[in-house]
Amino acid sequence: MALPEGGIALIEERAFQLLERKIYQEKSLQVKGYRDSYVKRRIGVRMRAHGVSSYVEYVRILNSSPEEYDLLLGNLTINVTQFFRDESTFEALKKDVLPQLISTKRERGQRMIKAWCAGCATGEEPYSVAMLFRLVLGPEISSWMVKVYGTDIDQMSLQKAREGKYERIASFEGRELKEYFDFNGQCKLKTMVKQMVRFKHYDLTSGHWSNHFDLIVCRNVLIYFSPSLQEELLHTFYHCLNKDGYLVLGKTETLLGESRKMFNPVNIRECIHQKLAEAKV
Ligand SMILES: C[S@@+](CC[C@H](N)C(=O)[O-])C[C@H]1O[C@@H](n2cnc3c(N)ncnc32)[C@H](O)[C@@H]1O
Repeated sequence: MALPEGGIALIEERAFQLLERKIYQEKSLQVKGYRDSYVKRRIGVRMRAHGVSSYVEYVRILNSSPEEYDLLLGNLTINVTQFFRDESTFEALKKDVLPQLISTKRERGQRMIKAWCAGCATGEEPYSVAMLFRLVLGPEISSWMVKVYGTDIDQMSLQKAREGKYERIASFEGRELKEYFDFNGQCKLKTMVKQMVRFKHYDLTSGHWSNHFDLIVCRNVLIYFSPSLQEELLHTFYHCLNKDGYLVLGKTETLLGESRKMFNPVNIRECIHQKLAEAKV
């Protein structure tokens, strides 16, 4: 029997939706929160690796091969990162944001700072934030309690992050930060930096969160999500931040919808925003 016009496309669209549901039910990854075009592109990479051209066929491969699931999830959660990625953003944090944050804390008689790197991949970003606090506070760091939380959905990345061993040493403002690493074949972060950072498995689409952060860094993560999920997360970040807290997004990420009324853009170029005391919503 001949398929009606557009029949194959319809079957494929249904198979794609089935695949989304399957990944959610079996692996708890809410793929619906990601942009359709992004998910299709990433699944396409795995389909090409198997030489198949339909979602129906690819579902069969997933059913018969648990390893393929790991490869697919790894592909959906790209974890490219590096120390002090976008150096000008870290320069702005060092020059303006951290000094301001520290001085506000001093005025309030507080000595505790909490930062959260959401979507931290293999840990270079939260470690960079921790090193930056050390650079800004200098010897005074010993009288402060600075905690940086790195969260990600990808367990393999988190495992590497916890090890704190890298091929390349961090460099910032043209100098290598040798004082923060030990060398033994690899570049291993020293305890003074490692102990400032805690890693936790956390799915940003799960709807749970903790709060009281002074700084939230979520860079190069929102781009993969649908605009509605991005907006939802920006609301979440607003509620997770302390009064006057800062939110840093990636260079291609912006505030959306109502969230524009919740933050003051303190450095548009570097995508740094400050929580408004009275959100205009
Ligand atoms: C491109 S990396 C960005 C790493 C770092 N923020 C940076 O800018 O260098 C994106 C990270 O987001 C994580 N990610 C993707 N979807 C996620 C989700 N639903 N919940 C938590 N993390 C997620 C990926 O696992 C990946 O490590």
